[in-house]
Amino acid sequence: MTAVPAPAWSPSAWRDFPARHQPEWPDETAVAAAREQLKAVPPLVFAGEARALTAALGQVAAGRAFLLQAGDCAESFRDFSAPMIRDKLKILLQMAAVLTWGATLPVVKVGRIAGQFGKPRSSPRERVGDVELPSFLGHVINDDAPTAEARTPDPERMVRVYHQSASTLNLLRAFTKGGFADLEQVHAWNQEFVATSAEGRRYERIATEIERALRFMAACGIDIAGRPELHEVDLWTSHEGLLLDYEEGLTRRDSLTGDWYDCSAHMLWIGERTRQPDGAHVHFFAGVHNPVGVKLGPSATAEDAVELCERLNPERVPGRLTLIARMGAGHVSELLPPILRAVREAEHPVVWVCDPMHANTITTSTGRKTRRFDDIMAELAAFFAAHRNEGTYPGGVHLEFTGDDVTECIGGSEAVLEEQLDGRYMTLCDPRLNARQSLDLAFRVAELMRS
Ligand code: PEP
Ligand code: CO
Repeated sequence: MTAVPAPAWSPSAWRDFPARHQPEWPDETAVAAAREQLKAVPPLVFAGEARALTAALGQVAAGRAFLLQAGDCAESFRDFSAPMIRDKLKILLQMAAVLTWGATLPVVKVGRIAGQFGKPRSSPRERVGDVELPSFLGHVINDDAPTAEARTPDPERMVRVYHQSASTLNLLRAFTKGGFADLEQVHAWNQEFVATSAEGRRYERIATEIERALRFMAACGIDIAGRPELHEVDLWTSHEGLLLDYEEGLTRRDSLTGDWYDCSAHMLWIGERTRQPDGAHVHFFAGVHNPVGVKLGPSATAEDAVELCERLNPERVPGRLTLIARMGAGHVSELLPPILRAVREAEHPVVWVCDPMHANTITTSTGRKTRRFDDIMAELAAFFAAHRNEGTYPGGVHLEFTGDDVTECIGGSEAVLEEQLDGRYMTLCDPRLNARQSLDLAFRVAELMRS
């Protein structure tokens, strides 16, 4: 008997599989029209860049580099300005400098930015004050204002996300290649409200040492000005590939290799709620050649992890697949080791990353969603310990942060207290680390990497 050949993968074939967390668009013609627009626009990233990121992540998989993936929980149509993008970049560069200096390893920098607009929600409806409404699903689908009209999914928003992502990425490329990310600017990334804190002063000391190291190299005759790696950085973009109408619209066939790439970002990840091996998301991302990630929450088993590896990276390409564990501070030590072991025994070369945010969310007595800095650090410490015991490599961290001086997470060395959360609680979705807490975390992660 001859086997029936599997139907060829195509950007729209995910429609034959169950797709969770997709909106109920009120008007299918409008969705098709938006998708046609997305199919016609220039891609946001080039396939060759996605391949370069796969190679960089391959170095992480091999234990020769570390991944820092961080940014907003949800980007916003309202909070969109050059200073906001610049301040997020500043804190990312500061954290990367701390990690590179502290652990003397290259840091692969990936933003949750320029496309992070869709949110999976635990419940399709939510209570806002006295009214019950359809849940806010991210600005790519509906608006967060608490009215039924605002919450109606609107496919035109996908086109707007494309344009906002294009201008965000444009500014990031300008900053990272045009002098702002120059290592000789290492002091300038310290924002005022950070510089006056304990971790800001600690950062200043490292920045001074980096400057000294540059002067030392120059004195030894190294041509500092002629070394682009000292003056530019690679910053890659990523988001959760949740809304498949959007991802389909931006998927292109690479003219050099003939392979498909999702050109909405360099890297995409599959969320905890949509990682079913037979589901539409896994099918879609199995067919594109970008580096991809998958979140693994406390319900993930060793078999689930190995099956995802087989589906998403059957060729075992190092750097193609990142597994992002988000187990919760109290569960990592028990749940992660068997998964690490199974993936290692199956000889899958994955990048192992810890997301210490998403399983450590709590609600205060006044109804604020928050996270404790101590729980975040406890999950990270347990993640590093589990890898040490299993002989696997803890390859990176995945964080939600902002460059602003917000009060959304509790704690840190200049502690935000529970009663201060209302002061500057600005997130559209999950609570983020502020710039001081992020820097504090980077110092502690550098210590975990050294130990
Ligand atoms: C997220 O990263 O914002 C998110 C929703 O994560 P998870 O899929 O892990 O819940
Ligand atoms: Co989130």
